[in-house]
Amino acid sequence: MRKPIIAGNWKMNKTVAEANAFAEAVKTKIPSNDKVDSVIGSPALFLTDLVNIAKGTDLKISAQNCYFENSGAFTGETSPAALANLGVDYVIIGHSERREYFHETDEDINKKAKAIIANGMTPILCCGETLETYEAGKTAEWIESQIKGGLADLTEEQVSNLVIAYEPIWAIGTGKSADANIADEICGVVRGTVAKLYNDTVASKVRIQYGGSVKPENIKEYMAKENVDGALVGGASLEADSFLALLEAVK
Ligand code: G3P
Repeated sequence: MRKPIIAGNWKMNKTVAEANAFAEAVKTKIPSNDKVDSVIGSPALFLTDLVNIAKGTDLKISAQNCYFENSGAFTGETSPAALANLGVDYVIIGHSERREYFHETDEDINKKAKAIIANGMTPILCCGETLETYEAGKTAEWIESQIKGGLADLTEEQVSNLVIAYEPIWAIGTGKSADANIADEICGVVRGTVAKLYNDTVASKVRIQYGGSVKPENIKEYMAKENVDGALVGGASLEADSFLALLEAVK
């Protein structure tokens, strides 16, 4: 069976002192890796400290973005090779905030996925639709096209090992979480798309998270669903107690 994966996405929050205090507070309380993968997605500034604090524990560290080249004249960008060298395990890519505010396309995201995998890290590839698309009943075709673009040219093995996060934009930071049945249905669309592009074996291995106003009080409803293997959590991952409560709820 697929191992659950709970990832916090801190977005652009915290100072280095706050990030370090969080990691120190949770690192020995994280459930065993045999039961759940526990990940913190941090701003790039704090990754060095976080990787060092998490060393030897079950806490895994994720970046929130990177570039698709390993080095060169790309002022202000973060190298995937440098992240891997630091000991970062995951990189979140294609978050709707990056697609909207930084104009990232499926093609950019696909290049990033390839670079992350080539450097031995795991992409957490986000997809999700706007309220307008949802209300127009076009969610499935929208998600299929994002998945197709994001996974272009990846091999069966590469896709089997990555993580996809379905985050309806209308449920992010709004307190309006998608109903667990909707989350399951659309995570099922993601899995079905992987089955169409590859095969059922790959689709049965890829881990799919739901994200959007997940909190300790509702995470079990999502995790009970067949197609939901974890959660990508913003607001409720910012406090150590709340992050630990999310992990406890699924272990
Ligand atoms: O990536 C996580 C996210 O966008 C959901 O945020 O605050 O609704 O849990 P939030």
